[in-house]
Amino acid sequence: MKVAVLANLKEDAPVSPDDPPGRWDDLDENLTIDTILESLRSIGYEAKYFPAELKSIQGLQEFNPDICFNSSEGHYGESREAQMPAILDILRIPYTCAGVLGMSLAHNKHIAKQMFRYAGLPTANFFVLHNIQELDHRELKYPLFVKPASEGSSIGINTEALVHNQKELEQQASYILNTVHSLVLVEEYIEGREFTIGILGDEVLPIVEIVSPTGFYDREQKEDVESEVYRICPADLPPEKTREFQEIAMKAKQILALEDVCRMDLRMDKDGNAYILEVNPIPLMHPDPEQASLVYASHAAGYTYTDIVRKIVESALARLDAPLN
Ligand SMILES: Nc1ncnc2c1ncn2[C@@H]1O[C@H](COP(=O)(O)OP(=O)(O)OP(=O)(O)O)[C@@H](O)[C@H]1O
Ligand SMILES: [Mg+2]
Repeated sequence: MKVAVLANLKEDAPVSPDDPPGRWDDLDENLTIDTILESLRSIGYEAKYFPAELKSIQGLQEFNPDICFNSSEGHYGESREAQMPAILDILRIPYTCAGVLGMSLAHNKHIAKQMFRYAGLPTANFFVLHNIQELDHRELKYPLFVKPASEGSSIGINTEALVHNQKELEQQASYILNTVHSLVLVEEYIEGREFTIGILGDEVLPIVEIVSPTGFYDREQKEDVESEVYRICPADLPPEKTREFQEIAMKAKQILALEDVCRMDLRMDKDGNAYILEVNPIPLMHPDPEQASLVYASHAAGYTYTDIVRKIVESALARLDAPLN
């Protein structure tokens, strides 16, 4: 069987002077793609990497894969993770992970949050800002958390994301509008513990707790392998909380139409209430578990890196065989 691995590598990313710090933090490193290719080959598949760009279309058609292992984040556009799935749909080449719909819903956190509300899933109160004037006449209860509505890897989330008054809110919202070039998502700040929950195939993985000395997980901490942030897995939670959070993760995956693998970030307030922050439709697969919670949780469940890759591909293949429901 032939598998094409599709990704946007950090080293190939288009660089512009307008880019905010860490503009391409969510793209893959060479090491990640090499490790995925190695894993696919060790399973017995013929595997080849293609940049997730238009220029790869002809090469992809010539290679004629049975399936694509999709790790592409895209570069531009409000739903950049949905672009490769759209191209593969046109080419009628099957692929792992969510389709256009799931990628678009998950990439736009404000839309994902509307979906959680609709499904009765817990998420913090929020509003979206298109410009600073929209703040006029708003009754606000601080502290608030300010982030881009559609980014990953904490891009646009710096040490000033937690705001305590109108001045700080305006400053941070302007930074996101003018420097990150994104809509602004303003949320209630959820003070408490943070967890992330991976789903591999149909299996919810053990919960990972992320402990950050600053109270939230900002961009610089994510990029700094020496940062004081650390993970605990399985998280120290009572069995009923573990079950509750794992069920929330499964329902969130379903409501956002995600497939094969995903990772939900959640916070718990001091009364034990859960709040979904977001769901990642293509969780980072860096082979260093200290950098990739999905890999960390999979190891805790007894799976090797190759097991993770195999399970993602097998989940997608099983979907292709299944009649539409
Ligand atoms: N409402 C909130 N209250 C408290 N902390 C928050 C809130 N929203 C985000 N955070 C903090 O900011 C971090 C990044 O937020 P979020 O997960 O939404 O962004 P992301 O950039 O998409 O992350 P990822 O790297 O997982 O793709 C969270 O891990 C959490 O520590
Ligand atoms: Mg997150």
